[in-house]
Amino acid sequence: MTNGDRSPSPEFDPLAFGDDLAPLPEYKAAGTTEVDFSGLLGEPLKLHEDLRSGCGGQLWPAGLVLAKHMLRYHRDELQHARILELGAGGGVVGLTVARGCASLEHPLYITDMVEMESLMQHNIALNGLDDRVRARVLNWGEPLSEEVLGFKPDIILAADCVYFEPAFPLLLQTLQDLLTLVPDAVVFFCFKKRRRADMQFLKAARKAFTVTEIEDEDRPVFSREGLFLYTFTRKQ
Ligand SMILES: C[S@@+](CC[C@H](N)C(=O)[O-])C[C@H]1O[C@@H](n2cnc3c(N)ncnc32)[C@H](O)[C@@H]1O
Repeated sequence: MTNGDRSPSPEFDPLAFGDDLAPLPEYKAAGTTEVDFSGLLGEPLKLHEDLRSGCGGQLWPAGLVLAKHMLRYHRDELQHARILELGAGGGVVGLTVARGCASLEHPLYITDMVEMESLMQHNIALNGLDDRVRARVLNWGEPLSEEVLGFKPDIILAADCVYFEPAFPLLLQTLQDLLTLVPDAVVFFCFKKRRRADMQFLKAARKAFTVTEIEDEDRPVFSREGLFLYTFTRKQ
């Protein structure tokens, strides 16, 4: 089945928000932003943002929360993990991990729709991370590629991927496929609740996976902004 058959997420059009789509952050002109997560990253990460390639062309709040969480709490164990990011946009979470870990035993995959591929590549090169990070197309709901099947990711990162209701079952399918491929894999999942429908995603996730709210010292701040941080693991 092609991506078109499965109602993938829409291309970014600031004037075309329907009922299905949560409002995006404020429209920004293209440019490069530097982030160092309150000094957790020695050398700041550079991220080119350009909404012309799609809504993932801009930094979203859950991406920043998840990237900081991974740096602060998981930096050491990530060095040995097989990491794959879904809906990476410009790649903020994966690139932060790649920059923040002293070494990485395996390449780290950042994935998104084809429209985001060149921005992901651009940001990998901008940060000199070509030897650590690979950008790939991974459309939610489609069968996993041979490369992903062979890679067998055990850490999945997903930030701000809950914003377009028709894509919810596609994302759930891909998460299910990944947790079937590697039964002890852990999905780190951060999202911002913008509409009531977003909680339907969580309800469906709770049916499919073990959903655990995880500790983070910034929780009082980000939860006030409607951000949620969980792990999803396979139900026993
Ligand atoms: C809101 S952005 C978040 C980007 C980034 N994770 C962040 O936190 O800044 C959501 C991303 O999901 C991607 N996406 C949406 N629907 C998708 C689909 N069906 N398959 C793959 N990626 C999808 C979009 O292209 C976009 O880059």
